Amino acid sequence: MKTITKICCIGAGYVGGPTMSVIANKCPEIQVTVVDINKDRIDQWNTENLDTLPIYEPGLKEIVAESRGKNLFFSTDVDTAIDEAQMIFISVNTPTKTYGKGKGQAADLKYIELCARNIAKVAKDDKIVVEKSTLPVRTAQAIQNILENTGNDVHFEILSNPEFLAEGTAIEDLLHADRVLIGGNDTPSGQEAKDALSAVYEHWLPKERILQTNVWSSELSKLVANAFLAQRVSSINTISALCEKTDANVQEISRAIGFDSRIGPKFLNASVGFGGSCFQKDILNLVYIARSYGLNEVADYWEQVIIANDYQKRRFAGKIISTLYNTVSGKKIVLYGWAFKKDTNDTRESPAIAIADALLEEHAELLVYDPKVKEDRIYADLDYLGTRSPEENRRLLKVTSDPIVATKEAHAIALLTEWDEFTAYDWQKIYDQMLKPAFVFDGRRILDTALMNEIGFNYYKIGE
Ligand code: UDX
Ligand code: ADP
Repeated sequence: MKTITKICCIGAGYVGGPTMSVIANKCPEIQVTVVDINKDRIDQWNTENLDTLPIYEPGLKEIVAESRGKNLFFSTDVDTAIDEAQMIFISVNTPTKTYGKGKGQAADLKYIELCARNIAKVAKDDKIVVEKSTLPVRTAQAIQNILENTGNDVHFEILSNPEFLAEGTAIEDLLHADRVLIGGNDTPSGQEAKDALSAVYEHWLPKERILQTNVWSSELSKLVANAFLAQRVSSINTISALCEKTDANVQEISRAIGFDSRIGPKFLNASVGFGGSCFQKDILNLVYIARSYGLNEVADYWEQVIIANDYQKRRFAGKIISTLYNTVSGKKIVLYGWAFKKDTNDTRESPAIAIADALLEEHAELLVYDPKVKEDRIYADLDYLGTRSPEENRRLLKVTSDPIVATKEAHAIALLTEWDEFTAYDWQKIYDQMLKPAFVFDGRRILDTALMNEIGFNYYKIGE
């Protein structure tokens, strides 16, 4: 079997950075070089002050501190790193296309293609190329075609090795992965490549959790895993709407069904809707692939998970408007949370964006507080929608760093992210300074109903 001594990873982002840090940490005899065309990002990875690494993940800085400069390097010299490595990971971004065919659904592969062309240009000996980005099915094939048709007559073996990290727990997920998937060709050189990558993970994971499959299965498994998880959230969210019309309580239902060992308790928390860079994108990819094979029923089935998610966001905003006597025009509403979940500063596809947009359409005056998301990001998220001018967004929505002062003379508070600090606030003090009746709309079900009612709030909790 081929022994790997040098690994190169193209893309120093959310996937490449943490994954390579853990590989380097667990495989001291392998030299790992992470490269990126973005010099600022590489400088940030090389910074003395480990509190300013470009990505925040619990446990990451400790691992970087141990390995950086020993066998973990961050560089902008992409070509040298490709040239020296026997194994090259591609971890570049693959956003949903914003133009042309498949716009709004298919993944944009231009960064992947540029990487493949670069590898083909530089490589002078055989390489194993591992696709690690979140990708639609058939990308390995596309990479293979580019490498074979433009390379210098060297052999490339392409593997698919999808990532299953959740933000906020990425290091934990890497160190104790439920499973690692390695997809590759069923040829002798394909098998050799799969075994070589498996040997890297076997440094810290039991062999039975490393699953070898064909390329299609590996690529599709990634989309299907996320589609199933998102489907659970949409399923319980549709039930939350039914609970609100009846006397049922969605949490009691989650608990009751979660005790069934065939269902299990995870991903059954009703919320304002799911967000994040993966769920929506991966389902849209699944839908796109199914439709491109003429499987319209399959496509419709999975598309419904997204439709239900959009419905949940709209429903929450609608609830705020109808409860505030059918008008929020000129009313001050404080939004607690902008990130798509707690413990991350990532806002990609965050439900807060759609909810804020719907309230702004009704001319509400919004004040946003999030402990980790910066003001620029919030405005960029809204401007990107293009619903109204950037000036209008800045006039109607303000960002604040003081969550308590923000509630002075507010009509309502909407809780959109489940940050722990929200439960620790002095809610009596907040109540005292709000306009009466004082409304709280809890989209994450984190506050204590009895306490909120006792203080005097008109308290709405999703799913009750
Ligand atoms: C997800 C997958 O979990 C991970 O395996 C994959 O590699 C990338 O996508 P991530 O997007 O980081 O990870 O977050 P996740 O914890 O899965 O949450 C996604 C969204 O669902 C969040 O907006 C979260 O608030 C929401 N959610 C999750 C719920 O609303 N209810 C739940 O019970 C669980
Ligand atoms: P992900 O969440 O998938 O890791 P990110 O956007 O956080 O996505 O990171 C992807 C990284 O890939 C970015 O830092 C970007 O600069 C880098 N990148 C994109 N294309 C190339 C390329 N051709 N060569 C090197 N780095 C690239």
